[in-house]
Amino acid sequence: MSEGNRPALVGNVAGLREIVGRWRAEAARVALVPTMGALHAGHISLIERARQEADRVIVSIFVNPTQFSPSEDFAKYPRTFSDDLQKLHTAQTDLCFAPDVTEMYPQGFATNVLVEGVAKADLEDHFRPTHFVGVATIVAKLLIQAQADIALFGEKDYQQLQVVRRMAIDLDIPTRIVGAPTLREPDGLAMSSRNVYLSPDERTHATALYRALREAASRIKAGDRIGDAMRAATETVVGAGFEIDYLEARHADTLARIADRDEGPIRLLAAARLGATRLIDNIAVQ
Ligand code: PAF
Repeated sequence: MSEGNRPALVGNVAGLREIVGRWRAEAARVALVPTMGALHAGHISLIERARQEADRVIVSIFVNPTQFSPSEDFAKYPRTFSDDLQKLHTAQTDLCFAPDVTEMYPQGFATNVLVEGVAKADLEDHFRPTHFVGVATIVAKLLIQAQADIALFGEKDYQQLQVVRRMAIDLDIPTRIVGAPTLREPDGLAMSSRNVYLSPDERTHATALYRALREAASRIKAGDRIGDAMRAATETVVGAGFEIDYLEARHADTLARIADRDEGPIRLLAAARLGATRLIDNIAVQ
């Protein structure tokens, strides 16, 4: 696609399949970047990576109701569709797939993807018990609909990435799942569509989450006990005014609890609330 072209905007599966079918007939490699819109630089970096790995890039925009619990922010989740389209144009996306709820969940819809293993690691799933069934179901649908060669997901939602990887393997979905590093603001805060909820004061304190994870990772790397490093991280995060949902060291692949650094590659994962905003972040111990 030339730089001047706007992305094709498609709202139904039949239209998506028709275009992807044409690309496949030309032997083009196709990438999918699933999003819920409210696009920020983190999404754009996924699109750029997709453009490096494929000839054609699809970005889906769908705020998936089934991954929100009734107490969560589905109704007020930021929706910035015309801005998003402009960003997709600038990022040279070929196709924006933006279905409505009835296209994705037609009347009579009765099938969900039940996920276990990494989806039951007692992290996000503990606080959002129905979340990953909603995520796995919608991502399975998108992967089947788009029939892309690769699909890109941000590492910021680290448990989600592991759930999607497992789901694609278990359901024999031939799309390669690629995880891409978290993009951060200059002060380290992980980019997220939900950062807009933070008040200016909360925004200043929010950076403590990443700082605590980074300090814990370097302490563990330097040989400190995991328990000691995580206790210090907890103090930093609580000291900045957060209420912690979890702040833990886990095996990077299985997400099993890990007490000693010899037990495998370590990922530190956190979710914490600052006022009404819940932030998540994670970091590798390398
Ligand atoms: O990470 C997200 O934005 C969503 O969970 C996803 C993968 C687009 C599924 O709705």
